Order: sequence, then structure tokens, then C-alpha cells
Amino acid sequence: MLKGKRILLIVAGGIAAFKALELVRRLRERGASVRCVLTEAGARFVTPLSLQALTEDRVYSDMFSLTDESEMGHIQLSRDADLLVVAPATANILARMAAGLADDLAATVLLATDKPVLVAPAMNVRMWTHAATAANVETLKKRGIYFIGPNDGAMACNEFGPGRMSEAEEIAAVVERMLAPAEQPLAGKRAVVTSGPTREAIDPVRYISNHSSGKQGHAIASALAALGAEVTLVSGPVAIADPPGLTTVHVDSADQMLAACLEPGRIDIAVCAAAVADWKAAKPATAKIKKKAGAAPPSLELTPNPDILATLSKAGPERPALVVGFAAETENLVANAIDKRKRKGCDWIVANDVSPATGTFGGERNTVHLISATGVEDWPTLAKGDVAMRLAGRIALHFGRPKRAEAAE
Ligand code: C5P
Repeated sequence: MLKGKRILLIVAGGIAAFKALELVRRLRERGASVRCVLTEAGARFVTPLSLQALTEDRVYSDMFSLTDESEMGHIQLSRDADLLVVAPATANILARMAAGLADDLAATVLLATDKPVLVAPAMNVRMWTHAATAANVETLKKRGIYFIGPNDGAMACNEFGPGRMSEAEEIAAVVERMLAPAEQPLAGKRAVVTSGPTREAIDPVRYISNHSSGKQGHAIASALAALGAEVTLVSGPVAIADPPGLTTVHVDSADQMLAACLEPGRIDIAVCAAAVADWKAAKPATAKIKKKAGAAPPSLELTPNPDILATLSKAGPERPALVVGFAAETENLVANAIDKRKRKGCDWIVANDVSPATGTFGGERNTVHLISATGVEDWPTLAKGDVAMRLAGRIALHFGRPKRAEAAE
């Protein structure tokens, strides 16, 4: 999808620089050509040779190299691309960009360019949340620099929080959205996507929930939006950012999730990817349940939650034309999912194996089967973003509006 596009990738010095190698591969896989500028600090983390081998191009790092300048002057380097990507973008390079410094090749190229710039920050969580970095980011955003991430998670410095560079796959998907000609086969269609876990209060401080990260549901919402649908994402409590280009409604409980799904009124597409808690406390306590010395532990009476998927699947004039559910199973995956499709009354079920060995919960990849009235499709293991794009493509096909690539198949 990026055939013929030229990316100038600026690799600054951070532990996440190793992900730049993966990013080169993901961009080239999509047909882009990639040329790299490596900062001096960046070269401490990845070698010019690795980048050169993966890009099949020379790597630029020296501002005052006569050979570099005679081959490709730094001004030309900054313009001879469709997009500049800074990954990883350290606190230092963000500060230099914000200040307009031109003290090395990377900074000079960024100052001299007339092309869009996408930056993928990566740094220690305290550096990211520092007022100086926040001000630099705000300045750069105002100047039209595009940002992706950082993500939350465990960091190399043993801290936890926002600061991890977005994954190569996520960056490549954004590059694609920025550069590939927009195909909008779902324009005019309205969709609701549920994502993440729900949280069912036991008392004001305790709750029942599960490990759903929301990554797959959020990716589906983004993919539908990328194909032109007007998307409402109804998300339980998750640690990932609201995707751009759509409306995100934040909820806690299943009851709230159902209400938020019904709120947009008539919709064409519903995708229920949330891991809704099956039960909630029958009588949540209004005050914190106290531990009493010597007393038996309290018993928890449960009552079923509303089934959002089954509710949206109910026949009637308001039923969305296409309702898609998920089946997360640890055994007899396909047989249980076929059964679930009938029981819930939905049109399709995306069945995924969530046994701990697969690492699906919270992981980056997913192996799924698409179950419809006409049969079962086994999909290869894909990044969650690719599962989402493929599902969105199938949905477009269902509405008789195939994406170009599928129409040509
Ligand atoms: O019944 P089970 O939880 O296995 O079904 C999974 C599918 O049903 C998922 O699509 C999930 O989002 C949806 N679901 C729901 N409301 C519930 C339980 C599950 O929408 N209360």
C-alpha cells in the first residue's frame, strides 16, 4: 500500500532504537523505500550497517561529510521524501526540534524539510511527563508535527507508565493512513464497537474484571474508521489511548456499556469485541465492606449481566445490518464458536484462542477464525492491527463495497 512512497527515517538515541530496524522492515514490506538518518547517540544503539542492510541504501549521519553532501545535500535529503519519521524520538530530539536547533544532521533535516513529520516518542516516563517535554510536544503539535504514542507499559529502566515507543506495526499503519490514498468503502455507514473489559463494582473500592487490554477492539474501531465508517467506540477501562478519528465513550460496567451502545440510535455495524463480565454483584455495597476479626469472609451473590451482543442481535427494524461477536475460548474453539453464533443470534463470530500459552490477552498478535452462516475461515496469525484491517475489509465486502485490493482478487 506504500508502493512508490519514500520515507526518511530519523533514528535517535534510545533503547527503543532497535525497534527502528523492525519499522524499516514493516515499511518496506508495504512497498515503501526507506532512507535513514542516524544520530550520533542513535549509533550507540543500532549500527549503521544494520540499517544499511535493511534499507538497502546508505545511512546518513555526518553533517559535514563531503561525500554525503556531494551525493545528497542535506536540504535535498530533507525534501527527497514523502514523509519524515522520527523513531525513536527522544526527549532531546523533541527539545531540539521545538527550539529549532540545527546542531546535527537529524535536527538540520527536520528544520529544513517541507514534508510532513511523524514522531514516535520513546523515553523514561518521568522525562515524558516532565513539564519541559510536555511544553515541547505542545509546541510541535501546534506546528503540525504528527505524534504516535508513546504507549504505556514496562520500561527498560524498570519503571512503568507512558514512554514506550509505539510498535513498528502501529507506526507503519499510521504511515499508511498518512500516505496511502484514502479508500473509504464504508463511508456513510455507522458502527459501534465495544472493547476492553468491564468493571463490576462489589463496593466503592473493589470490583470484578478481567485481563482484556482492548487492543483488538480499539484496532477494529480504527480500521472501520480508516475505511470511512462513522465509529463510536465504547470502551471499558483500558490503559491504551483513544484512537484518533472516531468517538470514544468510556464506561465501567456492562450496564453502562449496553446503554452507550444503544445511545447512537440506528447503526449499520456492531462489533462486540469487549470482554464483558458475565456476572455482577447482585447488591453492590454502598460503603467499603469491612473486614471483621474472627468473622467469616462475606459471600458474594452474583447476578447475570445483560448480554450486549445478544441484545444488539435481536431481530427487529432497528437491528444493525451486520452484528459481529467474538468468542474467546480456551478449548473446542471452533465448535463452541459455531454454537455461540447461533445462540447469540449474531451474523459473524470471530473466534480466538485465549489459552495462556497463546499470549493473546494483552499481546500484539492474534490467531482467529471467522465464522459465518456460510462456513469457517481460518486466518493466519496476524498482528492485531492486521486482524482488524482484514475484518474491516470483510465488512466492506459484506456491504458490497470491496476495498480495491479485494475487488481485484
Ligand atoms: O458469552 P461469551 O462471553 O462467551 O460471548 C462473547 C461475545 O459476546 C463477545 O462478542 C462479547 O463482546 C459478547 N458479550 C456481550 N455481553 C455479555 C457477554 C458477552 O456483548 N454480557
